[in-house]
Amino acid sequence: MKSIKTVPSTFCTLPKISLAILPTPVQRLQNIEQHLGLSPIYVKRDDRSGLLYGGNKVRKLEYLLADAVKTRHTTVLTIGPAGSNHVLATATYAQAIGLNAVAVIFPRVDTPAVRRNLVATLRAGADVRPCRSALTVPLGWLEGAAIAACAETDDPQAKILAYNIPAGGSSPVGCVGYFEAFLELMEQFRSMGKPIPSRIYVALGTGGTAAGLLAAISTLPVATEVVGVQVTPKIVVRRSTILTLAQQTLDLLAQSGCAQAQCTVREEALRVVTNQFGDGYGKVTPQAQKAMATAYELEKLELEGTYTAKTFAALLEDLATAPPHDTGVLYWHTYSSVELPVEPDPDIPERFKPLLQPADSP
Ligand SMILES: Cc1ncc(COP(=O)(O)O)c(C=O)c1O
Repeated sequence: MKSIKTVPSTFCTLPKISLAILPTPVQRLQNIEQHLGLSPIYVKRDDRSGLLYGGNKVRKLEYLLADAVKTRHTTVLTIGPAGSNHVLATATYAQAIGLNAVAVIFPRVDTPAVRRNLVATLRAGADVRPCRSALTVPLGWLEGAAIAACAETDDPQAKILAYNIPAGGSSPVGCVGYFEAFLELMEQFRSMGKPIPSRIYVALGTGGTAAGLLAAISTLPVATEVVGVQVTPKIVVRRSTILTLAQQTLDLLAQSGCAQAQCTVREEALRVVTNQFGDGYGKVTPQAQKAMATAYELEKLELEGTYTAKTFAALLEDLATAPPHDTGVLYWHTYSSVELPVEPDPDIPERFKPLLQPADSP
């Protein structure tokens, strides 16, 4: 296996592989501010976090892939719905640094974006294993693990078992990427001479992004609330999931030389919004459609219907009903804006077609 360079982290001893383009920009949404008569409204452009693929998975993968390398794995194994952003990001960056990726995927509402992500994942060289139902995922997971265990390696010292990356990359190691992201945000506001916003709106898929931010907030004297917007079912993520994950992230960091992480998670700094979920994961709501149109028409900011439009809809709804009186709000943009090298309506290999469900399915 070729040697992969890790870089030291500035705040803990955990290894990191530099994959992202950081810091991502912070911008004001001035046209929306004018439209609403409220300011400031900021956006954190994690859609531009990577050259090959952006969005919120890149920061997590910097720590996850480094951990895989440190523990002498040559294959990573992960899981997600068909066309998952996380699976695509994992396949892309694993390939970029010379690791094998195996992914177990399960059914998902069919959209052009889902098809393109699925094809991009296959083209990134991942070994993708379809699972007919999310209920058979544990079975698929084991199947994937078994395949990965057989992956060939040139290095006799290397373990052949795969490094397991949970759905969304939301393990404590992955969450460290968003702990670091909050420190980055603090530094950006410090250098702008502005106070940090009082609310950060972020989508809750598996909860790792929110958990990492909450963990960092818990270590600092800031009055910022993380507003997590539920877009996946409660069986996947709920308030307690995020609180537990945030505490596990703090504990991991405390054991890894980060003295400031020796603390308890600040539960009051997390609010979970559930009223944007609509009819289900991947099913666009009228509020999300409206938020998508507003963001595009006023700011040329492109949102998608599964995560980011529902999150922005929550922000707009809050500002209409309960605007903060102080330092403003920030929308954390988590969807990659990197153009994929895939045609608009690519052919899907036969064995994956049963995974793509019509939008009106129950
Ligand atoms: C575009 C996008 N935004 C937000 C999320 C949610 O992030 P997390 O899984 O860390 O809650 C995901 C993935 O789940 C995603 O793909």
